[in-house]
Order: sequence, then C-alpha cells, then structure tokens
Amino acid sequence: MKRQSIIAANWKMNGSLSLISEMVSGLNQVQLADNVNVVVCPSFPFLTAFTYAAQDENLQSRIQLGAQNVSEHQSGAYTGEVSTQMLKESGVNYVIIGHSERRSYYNETSTLVAQKVAVALEADLTPIICIGESESERESGQTNQVLSAQLQPVIDEIGIEKFLDVVIAYEPVWAIGTGKTASPEMAQETHQFIREFLAMKQTDVANKVPLLYGGSMNAANCEQLLAQADIDGGLIGGASLKVDEFKVICSTAKGYQ
Ligand code: PGA
Repeated sequence: MKRQSIIAANWKMNGSLSLISEMVSGLNQVQLADNVNVVVCPSFPFLTAFTYAAQDENLQSRIQLGAQNVSEHQSGAYTGEVSTQMLKESGVNYVIIGHSERRSYYNETSTLVAQKVAVALEADLTPIICIGESESERESGQTNQVLSAQLQPVIDEIGIEKFLDVVIAYEPVWAIGTGKTASPEMAQETHQFIREFLAMKQTDVANKVPLLYGGSMNAANCEQLLAQADIDGGLIGGASLKVDEFKVICSTAKGYQ
C-alpha cells in the first residue's frame, strides 16, 4: 500500500514576495517521485501572490499552497483572524494547525486545535496537525502520553474515520529551529507509536495517514529521516527558506514503497 508523501515548507513569519517567485520557479524544475506532494506555507499576505505566480509559471500540480493558521470561526467580528473560506478563495489547499509556536505563544489548546481541524475539514482544506513533546517531557519519559493527549481531542471532535483526510506532523519541540534533530531511530520510534495509537482506533486509517517529521530537517539529514518506515515526509522551517536546499529535500522524498 502506498501512502501519500508530503514535503511541507513552513515559512513562519519569514519570506517575501521575491522569495515567492524564486520558490515557484525553483520548484517547477524539481522532479518529484510519484506519490510526493509539496506544500508551501507562506504568511497570509503572500498566499494570493503564490497562487498568481503558480498560474503564471504553470506550476506542476503536485506543488500546492498551505496556510500556517486559520480561525475556528466562519466569519464575523474577529479582528486579525482569517477564515477557512478566505483561505479557499486565496487558492489554499492545506493548513497547518496547532504548531508548537501557536500552542506556546498564543495559548492554543488541543481543544482549540480540534475545533480548527473540524472547520478546516468542513471547508475541504487538509489540516496538517502538529504535535510534539518538549525536552523536559521527553526526558521524563512522557512523550507518548503527551502525544496521545494532543491527538485524543481531535479524535473526539472529528472521529477517527476523518483522519483519512488529515496529515499529522510530529515535531519534537526541542528540535524546532535548534539544529538538534531527532535521530532517525528516535523519530521512527515515535512515528511508529503515533501510528499504533491511531491503529488502536482504526487500523486501516492509521496505515493511510501521512506522518511528517519536523524539527531541523535539512538537505543533509533528510535522506536518513525520510528512509524510515513510518516517516512519510517533512515539515520544514529554516531549510525551506533556501530554495536550493528545499529543492534537494523535495527531490529526496521517495514516498512509501
Ligand atoms: P525547523 O522548523 O525546520 O526550522 O526546525 C520546523 C517547524 O517548526 O515546522
């Protein structure tokens, strides 16, 4: 069985209009393996610029657009927020939800994450749900417990069957932007745990959900990480801001064989 493989770029609050055009033309030259999709997630103001650049450059269809956040509300008096419908109209297909930076700096709880996942699915957007433990949680042996507690509210909200339409990104918080990557073995072990946790609810769904690794993935370490049985792709921050480096990661992804 082949799982979809996804390489997603999380630009965070970085990037510019010129990086959008550079990235679109750079990525158009990448040879992607069969079941690999690429998702670029720039900041809100650059979403439509990406869509127009993609049209102008006739960008290959497996390179798609994602947002980094979305409101749990449909519309209304929520100054500064962006709705699923607005994302759809801007050409967005994916949305990162519950990134650890949003959980820690903007107090997003797993309950809120679950609500956002539900509205995203209703709007036909694919949520990239981020989960991950802190360094102290790993050191005190609580990793699996933390990950289960982050996933359970989403399962309760949308039901396990709907996980066929989501992507999960496992990002150990201590590896994000630090240059400290989880070893391929450690990452695999945790990905396997996540898949087994989902399999306790529904095996078929668990076997199909793409699980991405995130946390200091780069051109030098991606091959070993992406070779792991339960790692189906990556969510890449820093290294996704360098077009040449990101291209290497995209072309290294082989997808699950
Ligand atoms: P990083 O970020 O690749 O810079 O560690 C990953 C992420 O936060 O999604």
